[in-house]
Amino acid sequence: MATVTAKSEVKATRVATPKVRQTKLLINGKWQDAVSGKTFATVNPATEEVIAQVAEGDAADVDLAAKAARKAFESGPWSKMDARDRGRLINKLADLMEQNIDELAALETLDNGKPVRDSRAADLPLAIDCLRYYAGWADKLTGETIPIRGNYFCYTRREPMGVVGQIIPWNFPLLMVAWKWGPALAAGCTIVMKPAEQTPLTALRVGELAMEAGFPAGVINLIPGYGPTAGAALVKHPQVDKIAFTGEHRTAQIIMGDAAQTLKRLTFELGGKSPNVIFADADLDAAVAGTEFGLFFNQGQCCCAGSRVFVEEKIHAEFVSKLVQRAALRKLGDPLHPDTMQGPQVDRDQFDKILSYIAKGNAAGAKCVAGGKRHGDKGFFIEPTIFDHVTDDMAIATDEIFGPVLSVLPFKSTEEVIERANSTMFGLAAAVWTRDVGKAHQFAKNVRAGTVWVNCYDVFDAAAPFGGFKMSGIGRELGSAALQNYTELKTVTMALD
Ligand code: NAI
Ligand code: MG
Repeated sequence: MATVTAKSEVKATRVATPKVRQTKLLINGKWQDAVSGKTFATVNPATEEVIAQVAEGDAADVDLAAKAARKAFESGPWSKMDARDRGRLINKLADLMEQNIDELAALETLDNGKPVRDSRAADLPLAIDCLRYYAGWADKLTGETIPIRGNYFCYTRREPMGVVGQIIPWNFPLLMVAWKWGPALAAGCTIVMKPAEQTPLTALRVGELAMEAGFPAGVINLIPGYGPTAGAALVKHPQVDKIAFTGEHRTAQIIMGDAAQTLKRLTFELGGKSPNVIFADADLDAAVAGTEFGLFFNQGQCCCAGSRVFVEEKIHAEFVSKLVQRAALRKLGDPLHPDTMQGPQVDRDQFDKILSYIAKGNAAGAKCVAGGKRHGDKGFFIEPTIFDHVTDDMAIATDEIFGPVLSVLPFKSTEEVIERANSTMFGLAAAVWTRDVGKAHQFAKNVRAGTVWVNCYDVFDAAAPFGGFKMSGIGRELGSAALQNYTELKTVTMALD
């Protein structure tokens, strides 16, 4: 996300609290209440106040949405639309998002708590860019002609997978919409999406923009609600061909079990405990800045957060002192104020989980050298926290904390640090800081992770695949790789005599 900086476009005064325009379910092109009539509250994590009541979908609504998506896939205008026109619709949605970028950024900040300078400069531009990238793919999904034995004409077609269920988390609510819709729509699938219960508002607003863009009824359906009810119903629904899920690995285990009955295709983008390795020959100031960004960005709520910071012993003391100084400069506060660098955690559950890990770090004997407490007395704010002298076996070094808690682990040699970097069940991302090209490539080759950053962190682009080794996921999002997640390959063989 370091690639997108548009701070000059962010206004100097506090951004006005945006209006909530849409709180219902989107099924078959119509906004409606849940069949049960139930609603749930979405909360502003900066104030702990209720923002709005949102329709709470469950199995009955998922059933209606899946049937609408099935109909749109089998027989609606979408199924007959030329691929290039699908691309034009995706581009139109991206244009509408750009026209409403300030409103969407403010709404994302209101619901999630992330600083508006980040939502305006990173989440929104990246989401729009992602949709445009996939719009360009819509008419470029080709098959092959294959020289088989005998007098036959053999070719393959890449066909849309069908109705796809998409279940997304709360840490990048709108960006996850773009990562999921882009390849699915480009491939010609239809969608039933369940946004996270903590952050449903921007997905619903973008649903409105999708209707304005002209997506036919049933192509995009939105069912806000809870995981064990709406989410599980989507996973089990016989008319849904595939589930794309981003969230916790434990949830993915439940989903995999629930999907067994219907043998759904599954792609997972899960958590991590990503190693960020600083060698003594690195540009130290760049490494310190990248380490701060790599962990504290988005309040530490990133699947690829660089939460295990391995620092070569020779520079350990100097590095930690510089990092502590930078952490102290982070401005916490009202996320709608453009100066704010760190907002609240998304909800009380996450806030409590993070504080419990800070307590575990202290109890295990790690040295807390920055932060370590709640910030203020209202809202789910936690101070930027740094633990030094962490050992590999401590819970703060093994578990995904998903908050502003950084662990520093000293190391001596390249072989040692590669082995320790890999001694985790996760394998999402890794980074290395060094001026030695050979060392950088050695690390990049040997670390078991889906993304490796060298002398940078969190550089994302819609064209570059992203996903996990080991328990960090199955499949890749972004790039041409993600199109595989939404297409089936068909082989056609025709006798020529
Ligand atoms: P979660 O995995 O439970 O939630 C993610 C999505 O899955 C939400 O939309 C939720 O409603 C849905 N879901 C939950 N249970 C489900 C079920 N049984 N069937 C179908 N869908 C279900 O994550 P949660 O509880 O919000 O956060 C817990 C931890 O997960 C975090 O502390 C963090 O460590 C990790 N996490 C990782 C993310 C990532 O980007 N890899 C994103 C969010 C959380
Ligand atoms: Mg959960």
